[in-house]
Amino acid sequence: MKIKLTINNEKKEVEITASEFLLDVLRRLDYMSVKKGCDTGTCGVCTVLMDGKPVLSCSVLAASADGHEITTVEGLKDDPEFKAISEALLNEGADQCGFCSPGLILNVYSMKKELKDPTEEDMKKYLVGNLCRCTGYAPQMRAIKKYFEVKA
Ligand code: FES
Repeated sequence: MKIKLTINNEKKEVEITASEFLLDVLRRLDYMSVKKGCDTGTCGVCTVLMDGKPVLSCSVLAASADGHEITTVEGLKDDPEFKAISEALLNEGADQCGFCSPGLILNVYSMKKELKDPTEEDMKKYLVGNLCRCTGYAPQMRAIKKYFEVKA
């Protein structure tokens, strides 16, 4: 079957199978920032924005994304917020292996749009689905708090 997706502002018609998940379709189309981790909806590395809201692409059937707008980190490369989040993470040494970074960045990007002045507790709740094996979360939290302080 064919579906229509707008990926990073580019309209595409994509051939999919009925059982295919959005994650696999995006990777097949070379959006390699979208990572496959647990593949069961628990690690967050496959996060993309669907109509501006974060979703776990490993848990979204591609067929149900038909007609929707998808944003991956590749689509934010010219966005000043993306730059500011990435720099904050880099400055705090919070990226390490980088595998979880695209999903984390998309969630921080979305959190900025949704929450005006989040507390540390709000940030932790918002990002609870983003697992990271390397950083122990402390450098990430420092970076995200600094990003919100500068941008507040
Ligand atoms: Fe989707 Fe882990 S790969 S949540």
